[in-house]
Amino acid sequence: MNIVVGVTGGIAAYKSVQLVRLLVQSGHEVHVVPTADALRFVGLPTWEAISRHPVTTSVHDDVASVRHVALGQAADLVVVAPATAHTLARMAAGLADDLLGTTLLATRAPVLVAPAMHTEMWLHAATQANVRALEDRGVRVIGPESGQLTGDDSGPGRMSEPEAIRAEIERILAEAAPAAGTRGDAAGLRVVVSAGGTREPIDPVRYLGNRSSGRQGVEVALAAAARGADTVLVAANVEPGILAAATRAGIAVRTVGSAAELGAAMEDLAPDADVLVMAAAVADYRVANVAERKLTKEAAAGTPPTLELVENADILVGLVAARKPGQTIVGFAAEMPAEGETLLERGIRKRRRKGVDLLAVNAVGWDAGFERPTNALTLIDAHDAVVAEPSGTKRETAEALIDAILRLRA
Ligand SMILES: Cc1cc2nc3c(=O)[nH]c(=O)nc-3n(C[C@H](O)[C@H](O)[C@H](O)COP(=O)(O)O)c2cc1C
Repeated sequence: MNIVVGVTGGIAAYKSVQLVRLLVQSGHEVHVVPTADALRFVGLPTWEAISRHPVTTSVHDDVASVRHVALGQAADLVVVAPATAHTLARMAAGLADDLLGTTLLATRAPVLVAPAMHTEMWLHAATQANVRALEDRGVRVIGPESGQLTGDDSGPGRMSEPEAIRAEIERILAEAAPAAGTRGDAAGLRVVVSAGGTREPIDPVRYLGNRSSGRQGVEVALAAAARGADTVLVAANVEPGILAAATRAGIAVRTVGSAAELGAAMEDLAPDADVLVMAAAVADYRVANVAERKLTKEAAAGTPPTLELVENADILVGLVAARKPGQTIVGFAAEMPAEGETLLERGIRKRRRKGVDLLAVNAVGWDAGFERPTNALTLIDAHDAVVAEPSGTKRETAEALIDAILRLRA
């Protein structure tokens, strides 16, 4: 893989020499892009010798190969280690005043930062806000660890160890790569995936919602796109850090809020879709009379308001009713079986009721399902047969779902 290692001006730059060595030993092509300040800590010859590639800090060197964007465009991953407070601030602001800045703006590959600085600098509100802004855009952060710092002090601020950074890089690369031999097997298909959870307004500032982060639906969209499908993601209140991964992958994103908005978007996109995957958690009910103004305790005068609910239209049933020939419709069901009933029995009943081609059932509860990086799905087809029971990361379950959809269509 093609990895750009950005190095910035902190003592921990010496540890990145080891990181580059580990990456080269693992067979990666490594291009080091230091800042001018980084070279005051570890010199240019060391980076060139260890990476086996020419190294420069400036956008004005090797202009003929348009290096200021070429490195970022060609990268499979960019890691900044160590990442100083200054460079985190530059990244948050999108500054491009050196080769590392332009590379970070030009890349669409995953970006990992390994911050290193004194505890006061790390905990400063400005640094914390910058890191949050980067995370919201999908930048991954490793560390810093707590421990002995450059002076006599200790606390959070130590850069993670090179071996831990390398392991994280391999994990991200594996997550981004489609399963071997499957690239392109969804080419030519138009896939629409909904993700997240709807919010039903109560008044201008309050809503009825659910705990869905949107990760499972986004992973389905990422898996479909990575396998060549022309993919649209309908995102209902998906967490920004999760949504950023879809935007980075070039997936067309439509954002919606309520069940009615989600239904309208799906209805609009369905006629052109070969596959519809409804992974979003949709509210069954909405508030009958949404208050025009914020509800207040004063206005309630001691009598708590009562919310009257009305049933929302069933989006999945509507899509099935309007299904065009050859279209595959997949539903998700987050279920909590009742006493004396299995998850499978409940799933089969729901699949029949909805009329979908495939239903992905998962158990939810106080400590299962939503807001977690892993999932376990039972995939039930139109003959009430369990065609797969994938479990693992939400990316792994997403890949298994795409496999099942492609088998159905074969
Ligand atoms: C000895 C020394 C050690 C430093 N260590 C760090 C550090 O670990 N983290 C940090 O954020 N800044 C550190 N700095 C300050 C940065 O070098 C300074 O903010 C610089 O402008 C960073 O530029 P850059 O991010 O473009 O490399 C250190 C400065 C000196 C002189």
